Amino acid sequence: MQQLLRQLGLRPGWIYEAVVCTSLEGRPHAAPAGVATDDCRSLRLDLYDTSRTLGALLSSGVFVCDLPAGADTLFRALYAPEELTFARASRIDAPRLADSAATIELVVVSTAPRGGLTRVRARVVAVTRHTDVRLINRAEPLLVESLILATRIRLAGRETTLAQLDENLRVAEKVAPGSAAAGSLRRLRRQLDGRS
Ligand SMILES: Cc1cc2nc3c(=O)[nH]c(=O)nc-3n(C[C@H](O)[C@H](O)[C@H](O)COP(=O)(O)O)c2cc1C
Repeated sequence: MQQLLRQLGLRPGWIYEAVVCTSLEGRPHAAPAGVATDDCRSLRLDLYDTSRTLGALLSSGVFVCDLPAGADTLFRALYAPEELTFARASRIDAPRLADSAATIELVVVSTAPRGGLTRVRARVVAVTRHTDVRLINRAEPLLVESLILATRIRLAGRETTLAQLDENLRVAEKVAPGSAAAGSLRRLRRQLDGRS
């Protein structure tokens, strides 16, 4: 299982955007969430305590993390769920997206409160790759957006731009610690400090 998760390209400690599939009131339900692995055997998710997904996966003890083929699936999960199609997971009693790039099947191992969120740790019981996987991590797009923002600093205003860059850097370091993208964002921020 460890090998299979590694083959998907997940880097330990990085956060990837996935779609969590559960059964909610007997129906398939999907919601986007960030997932990370520390050991390539399990995933961790931080879910808002108000999330229906959290309630559903705690009550069944199982759930699926689908790696979407594109970010449009994240949109559909939130705003056009009727456009999603589901199939059944292979090893657990849970739905999965019919058109995802890969399906990870999980069993809940533990939960811990984190100030309005619940950290869920779950053991991977099956990994199925359906097509080529293109992992979605926010650090690279944040670097691109930050570079564009920096070119427009005179138009948008220095304070507003620097505040947005600080936030982008915070998120990039959280979702991709040690990445080239986070490193470049930090250097960009320093460059702008030098220019007053
Ligand atoms: C890209 C993306 C990532 C998200 N990550 C999380 C997350 O890690 N934890 C969480 O609780 N909500 C996350 N959300 C928000 C939930 O998807 C959203 O609140 C959803 O409405 C929850 O639905 P539910 O109440 O049916 O579970 C994310 C949303 C998007 C678009």
